Amino acid sequence: MNVGVPREVKPGEQRVALTPAGVRALIAAGHRVTIEAGAGLGSSIRDEEYTRESATTAAADQVWAQADMILKVKEPLPEEYPRMRPGQILFTYLHLAPVPELTRALQAAEVIGIAYETVQRADGSLPLLAPMSEVAGRLAVQEGAFYLAKAHGGRGILLAGVPGVPPGNVVVLGAGVVGVNAARIALGLGADVSILDINLDRLRAVDDLFHGRVITLMSNAFNIDQVLRRADLLIGGVLVAGARAPVLVTKEMVATMKEGAVIVDVAVDQGGSVETIHPTTLLDPTYVVTGVVHYGVANMPALVPRTSTFALTNATLPYVLELAGRGVATATRRNAALAKGVNVWRGKLVHPAVAHALGERATPLEAIVD
Ligand SMILES: NC(=O)c1ccc[n+]([C@@H]2O[C@H](COP(=O)([O-])OP(=O)(O)OC[C@H]3O[C@@H](n4cnc5c(N)ncnc54)[C@H](O)[C@@H]3O)[C@@H](O)[C@H]2O)c1
Repeated sequence: MNVGVPREVKPGEQRVALTPAGVRALIAAGHRVTIEAGAGLGSSIRDEEYTRESATTAAADQVWAQADMILKVKEPLPEEYPRMRPGQILFTYLHLAPVPELTRALQAAEVIGIAYETVQRADGSLPLLAPMSEVAGRLAVQEGAFYLAKAHGGRGILLAGVPGVPPGNVVVLGAGVVGVNAARIALGLGADVSILDINLDRLRAVDDLFHGRVITLMSNAFNIDQVLRRADLLIGGVLVAGARAPVLVTKEMVATMKEGAVIVDVAVDQGGSVETIHPTTLLDPTYVVTGVVHYGVANMPALVPRTSTFALTNATLPYVLELAGRGVATATRRNAALAKGVNVWRGKLVHPAVAHALGERATPLEAIVD
């Protein structure tokens, strides 16, 4: 198969959809890889690192024109629509439900659009979203620690404390991928960490994982109210799949927090679980409400594009190899997780949530692919 990797054109996006290790694996399996010149630079990967593994570099138009399968990170932008070709596989984050114009563009171009975010295993887990939650969860503590510094607007707290001075108090809402990764880093820094979830099994897993060194608490309004008063850093990592994040921290609760405490609500991309949070950008990440620093960056992995690129491509590459090796029809028939990733197939809407967003009925994949 001819595999093409364009440079990302979305403003600020520095990740790339394939690393030199991915090129090596694809070439070894007998495929051809064309990378847009400079595509890896945002992640500090030079063109020579790709060509050394036998990839070819080319201009964007040529990459799109030659490829049977395009690997991207973000959805195509309008300037890329005319480059898509009928029957071409597009494997990338799509997030189609809120953007009907993009869904229509993919339908019109008759591509096979497979979305990273809807690839789903039988246990409900989302293997191509998890790596970005790992990055964001770990980064949340690093960023929180930075903004706790007095010169950065915070309370002036060193999370680790020192002998004779207690460590900072970190409260994590949600014990999923973001929450557990945040707890791990906070604990590693020596902070005093509590984590809350409504799922007791998640709390049992955390208790086991950290050998009881993280305090686990059932998530309810009473407990949240109590822990917030002590918190120096609050990290939000709550998710109710497919829904807006529940508001667990009201503005009245925020007003009871310490002056100079920091809130990093990672779930801001789903609306956030803190009433006073709103999305911010990496260029201007924080603002203050009732003395509490709020950090609402909706694309945290973009701060560390190199780590994020490697984390993402570690997870996507096995699917890329399967699609390239078996062809899209056989690969999606044999791999149910990958089949769930198909959003549009040559003009037909396949994913139920995407069809629903357009007020249409989905066509089951089995009815299209035989
Ligand atoms: N801002 C960013 O850059 C960024 C990056 C990656 C992920 N995210 C977002 O972070 C959020 C969390 O992602 P995840 O991968 O950790 O999800 P996850 O499904 O692994 O974990 C979510 C957890 O929230 C828990 N939960 C649900 N309702 C709760 C409640 N009322 N109280 C406490 N816990 C509750 C669930 O039981 C689950 O354990 C998502 O919205 C995701 O999109 C944001």
